[in-house]
Amino acid sequence: MDSKNIVWHDASVDRKERNNKNGHESFVLWFTGLSGSGKSTLANAVSRKLFEENKQTYVLDGDNVRHGLNKDLGFSPEARTENIRRIGEVAKLFVDSGQIVSTAFISPYREDRQQVRDLLQENEFIEIHVDCSLSTCEERDPKGLYKKARTGEIPSFTGVSSPYEAPENPEIVVNTEENSIEAAVDIIVKKLEDKGLV
Ligand code: PPS
Repeated sequence: MDSKNIVWHDASVDRKERNNKNGHESFVLWFTGLSGSGKSTLANAVSRKLFEENKQTYVLDGDNVRHGLNKDLGFSPEARTENIRRIGEVAKLFVDSGQIVSTAFISPYREDRQQVRDLLQENEFIEIHVDCSLSTCEERDPKGLYKKARTGEIPSFTGVSSPYEAPENPEIVVNTEENSIEAAVDIIVKKLEDKGLV
């Protein structure tokens, strides 16, 4: 689509003013990991903790976004790339609006996550690898999807019949086999404090 006749409008209230008023920076906490690794649970728990500290927070979650904005997208490599591209753009808008936005998408491809990073400024994209072995995710199988993937009922399932490219240099790694959710939340919040973000 040609955007050469579209002119950018500066907003009447800018992000700096919002962040000053809110008393904190706005940025993206990008949770990535296998299905069943604990992304959504952790994203929601971190978001809740920061919310209770009077921060502006919002969660964008894979399953929910795929019911609305991205309901036209499946799980082919191209569809996943488009899924992540749109989420990246939405997350950027949320950052502009002053939010600490937590996203919980498998986001299996390194290149797609890098594209989102490139959309944002340094310190606005905090990649969090929710690390959990495939065997444990498969044991947990909270939605019964791995079982269906193994029988072929669900094709191209991440970790089974579609790749997951783990981050090579994420800002934060939390292992959800070794840590409880509470401990994992503490690890993440401590890292954010160390970075001076909260
Ligand atoms: S992606 O890869 O980032 O575009 O995926 P995402 O938008 O996070 O959606 C993942 C959730 O969709 C369900 N689901 C599948 N996941 C992986 N592969 C296939 N083929 C698939 N089909 C459906 C699944 O519930 C994922 O949710 P989580 O929370 O990760 O378990």
